[in-house]
Amino acid sequence: MTVYTSSTLDVPSTSNIPKHVAIVMDGNGRWAKSRLMPRFAGHKRGVDAVKRTVQACCELGVEHLTLFAFSSENWRRPPEEVSLLMRLFIRVLRKDVEAMHRENICLRIIGDTTAFEPELQAAIASAQELTKDNSRLFLNIAANYGGRWDILQATKNMLKSNPELANNPDQISETDLSRHLCLQGSPEPDLFIRTGGEQRVSNFLLWQLAYTEFYFTDKFWPDFGKPMLLEAIDSYNNRERRFGRTSEQIQPPVANVRQSAQ
Ligand code: FPP
Repeated sequence: MTVYTSSTLDVPSTSNIPKHVAIVMDGNGRWAKSRLMPRFAGHKRGVDAVKRTVQACCELGVEHLTLFAFSSENWRRPPEEVSLLMRLFIRVLRKDVEAMHRENICLRIIGDTTAFEPELQAAIASAQELTKDNSRLFLNIAANYGGRWDILQATKNMLKSNPELANNPDQISETDLSRHLCLQGSPEPDLFIRTGGEQRVSNFLLWQLAYTEFYFTDKFWPDFGKPMLLEAIDSYNNRERRFGRTSEQIQPPVANVRQSAQ
């Protein structure tokens, strides 16, 4: 398994195509409302945007994509909307997993899936089993996920797997904890995208976003696809990723550039 650099322990390597994109898919309800449609129609169209985005990531060479489908706070929504979303997740997992498998996509659901009804848990288990050895794109769907929950469950699991650490807390390292986070095995996201006009993290990947570049757009999620992903990547390519260093440490001095051109 590839071991990825932690952005706070070392400086990760970067490239023009982000290795890992994380997206808060917001604005489904408003997309539907602006067309006098029920909110759920926006979620259904949101699935089409997911498919376009997955396809675009495969074409562009993005290796990891993490999508926020249902937060630990989304249970507060009206019960009919929660129930329709659960039906939609089951339908997508059953209907589209074969196509994902053919595209060599590895699907992983991150979050506390024990809260889901058995039918959804079974669909998740079989989709993950079918796609577990695939490697073209690692697609993480966050469902009943919360960043605080993730850090807490990692802490508990770290102490369960290594009880001596409880008596020696000063020995606990970042790596001890991070290997128990849901996204272990994935690099930290290079690019975070949020559609729908809000500019907040909403309890997504709180640990992993430490040095991620943020991109916000007013466009609603059902309209998202390759052109908007490319706009976000364009913006990403105009950022200077310093990881705590100075600009001078990153840009070679002009004299050196001239010398190396000779
Ligand atoms: C946020 O829009 C969207 C959600 C909470 C659900 C996301 C679900 C999908 C995109 C469809 C299924 C996805 C997968 C991966 C199977 P909102 O309802 O908060 O929109 P609003 O802010 O306009 O009300």
